Amino acid sequence: MEKLLIKGGNNLKGKISCSGAKNAALPIIAASILSDEKIVLKNLPYLQDITTMFELLGSMGAEISLDENMNFTINTSDLKEIEARYELVKTMRASILVLGPLLAKYGEAKIALPGGCAIGSRPVNYHLDSLKKLGVNISLKNGYIEAKVNKLKGADIVFDGITVTGTENLMMAASMAEGVTTLQNVAKEPEIKDLAEFLNKMGAKIDGAGTDLIKITGVKKLQGAEFNIPADRIEAGTYLVAAVVTQGEILIENIDPSRLMQVIEKLKETGACIEYDKNSISVFMRESIPKPVDITTAPFPNFPTDMQAQFSVINAISSGIAKVNETVFENRFMHVLELNRMGCDISVKGNQAIIKGVNSLYGAEVMATDLRASASLIIAGLCAEGETIVDRIYHIDRGYERIEEKLNYLGAEITRLPS
Ligand code: EPU
Repeated sequence: MEKLLIKGGNNLKGKISCSGAKNAALPIIAASILSDEKIVLKNLPYLQDITTMFELLGSMGAEISLDENMNFTINTSDLKEIEARYELVKTMRASILVLGPLLAKYGEAKIALPGGCAIGSRPVNYHLDSLKKLGVNISLKNGYIEAKVNKLKGADIVFDGITVTGTENLMMAASMAEGVTTLQNVAKEPEIKDLAEFLNKMGAKIDGAGTDLIKITGVKKLQGAEFNIPADRIEAGTYLVAAVVTQGEILIENIDPSRLMQVIEKLKETGACIEYDKNSISVFMRESIPKPVDITTAPFPNFPTDMQAQFSVINAISSGIAKVNETVFENRFMHVLELNRMGCDISVKGNQAIIKGVNSLYGAEVMATDLRASASLIIAGLCAEGETIVDRIYHIDRGYERIEEKLNYLGAEITRLPS
């Protein structure tokens, strides 16, 4: 397994560009199943999760090609399979996103039931219960979800709990249902709006994405479309945190700051000076020691759970004590034990972490457990004394495009060690 070797202590300085958002791209690729015409996607990030989604579509019979400008063309007009096999689903839970489109287009889908994962049990009951309201018959057999429907019928649905991919699955399914569907208690993440924009470009009729009520008037057919994947707010947030802990000064281009206002506000509380315009964000860490910041994660527009682990490092080297409440996932503190091995003072009780600031961190050999946990270990390595080796970095390659290249460009010293 490849590892990253990080020599700590360099201040990050300079300018980088944000890549396309993984969590916008995954549902949009799945949505290509809805049309018989060509879908052209630009600014797709080069990530393992994107490759896995293409592998899944490819295994069903989709044709995927890449042109000289790195634009992907997807043609799903000749799908032969309506099945997402366990081999792929187990490596990427977002495979569940093909369920809605397959039901809308073929009235049938067989998807391996995602199991537990490092950050929590992550069931899909909200997806399934809501699809049942559109008339879908669902049974669970031999570890698979078997779903069938003659014709999806619009309905008024109130989700039992807020779910990002669940909201996306229902938006895709309802786009081609008979009549009108309303969705309430929905996720309002920017990626929901991105998907709605893409579906509307395909000819869907979706109003209200990003608000508390989404209204979808079903259409018979969806056409081809071209779409530019928006920038990754979590990637941008991660680099901003890296700059703060290294007393750096960086500019991130190609990112709409309105997508991460909660993160920006919390970074300001640490003492960082942040400026932004429509398409870029800069950070300058003027304090030698960050101030602690309390955090409670919750669905958008609140503080994102996907930034919780990275902020632990700011708090770990802060001038005081911070409380971090994780309310989205039940087990998203796996990074804590590894961070403590680097000198952090973090204790966890239930869904709360208490982080006491220490004077300095030291390098150690640590192990990544999930995508955002690995980002926090790399960030800790950047501000630690000596060398840090992060093992199991396949987690980071799922969601950060060329991370060591981008950080080295800003002045870090990171080497990828072969397996
Ligand atoms: N939940 C249920 N039942 C369901 C669905 C969700 O109980 O049917 C629970 C989950 O167990 C969790 C909470 O509801 O406790 C929220 O889960 P959600 O469904 O919103 O998460 P998701 O759609 O599986 C997406 C992102 C995650 C991100 C979460 C929360 C994608 C592909 N993934 O996951 O991204 O953390 O929303 O914002 O969009 C990441 O990028 O590192 C990542 C994990």
